[in-house]
Amino acid sequence: MKKLPTVLAVIFFLSTLFLIYFFIFRGSVIETEDHRVAIQLSKNNTDFALAEMRTFLESIEQINEGILNKDADLIFEGGRQSGAKIVEETPKGMMGSLPIGFKKLGLSTHAKFDAIADSIRANNNFVQAHRELNSLLNLCVTCHRTYKIVAE
Ligand code: HEC
Repeated sequence: MKKLPTVLAVIFFLSTLFLIYFFIFRGSVIETEDHRVAIQLSKNNTDFALAEMRTFLESIEQINEGILNKDADLIFEGGRQSGAKIVEETPKGMMGSLPIGFKKLGLSTHAKFDAIADSIRANNNFVQAHRELNSLLNLCVTCHRTYKIVAE
């Protein structure tokens, strides 16, 4: 009978590991024929993710226009609009559906938008802003190559 607490502890430990794997690392994903990982999201969460993407594109356009016209304010606003503050608006429970690689790329993208806003404020350097915009675009490309969304 003395073994029972140990057995229960092991079961508890393994279930915790499983939950951590499922909700933090794996997310709700399926493999697809085009070799991208498909993330299954509810209709609401899909709408949220795609609206965020369209805001990304608007920010990119604004930053690019700011670089062309040497308009630091436009670059700053474009960057902030897609910065880390959006993460707080993520619907409850959505993070659990996202695989860890997607979360990392998403957070890096928000951080990069903030970095563009901060550095134009600090240095007023348009060549640097252009360089940063380019490395930001690499994150968009990497994620689009790897993942897609399927609404449940
Ligand atoms: C963390 C991953 C990730 C990052 C980073 C990312 N995207 Fe996306 N984006 C996606 C996924 C997934 C879709 C859905 C594509 C699909 O299902 O085929 C998408 C869709 C879009 C769409 C279509 C929106 C719609 O209404 O259908 C646009 C526009 C877009 N992304 C722009 C961008 C831009 C610009 C960037 C970079 C600043 C970016 N994305 C960065 C994952 C990402």
